[in-house]
Amino acid sequence: MKVTAIYPGSFDPITNGHIYIAERAAAIFDEVIVSVLVNERKISAFSVQERCEMASESLKHVKNIRVDSFNGLLIDYVRQKQAGVIIRGLRAMSDFEYEFQMALMNRKLAPEIETFFIVTDPKYSYVSSSSVREIFHFGGTVKDVVPKNVFEKLRERYREK
Ligand code: PNS
Repeated sequence: MKVTAIYPGSFDPITNGHIYIAERAAAIFDEVIVSVLVNERKISAFSVQERCEMASESLKHVKNIRVDSFNGLLIDYVRQKQAGVIIRGLRAMSDFEYEFQMALMNRKLAPEIETFFIVTDPKYSYVSSSSVREIFHFGGTVKDVVPKNVFEKLRERYREK
């Protein structure tokens, strides 16, 4: 039986830490869908389309990964895709409380769906989309934490301002 896993997130923008998690998930599951959250209530640096494009370009080397977007409840989307698994990455203990609560809430809503945690590589343990955005905003650059296409997009975006 083919198992599809959903890797949901804001991906604003995708970082090397996300890519590492997606690649490891793709080595385990038949198909991985990296799913960008459409959240009208949250102001994002990049549009959903830009976030999807950056993610697709960064992950095009992995054949069983595709990129999509979703809105509404994650579990509804997971059911709609007939996927049995939600992938989440863990960087540090500080991620755990939020992730544990979300996993339990999702299990309460959809007991048949499993949340599968993948631990990051220590070299990405400090990397977050928000810190990457902030560094670029204030004129710094961090080449090693985002893929080349995202780096260029960040440079464009923060040069524009
Ligand atoms: O990258 P993020 O922002 O940490 O991802 C959070 C995400 C998208 C996984 C979470 O906010 C989510 O699933 N949102 C969809 C709405 C939903 O299902 N909320 C209930 C979660 S308990």
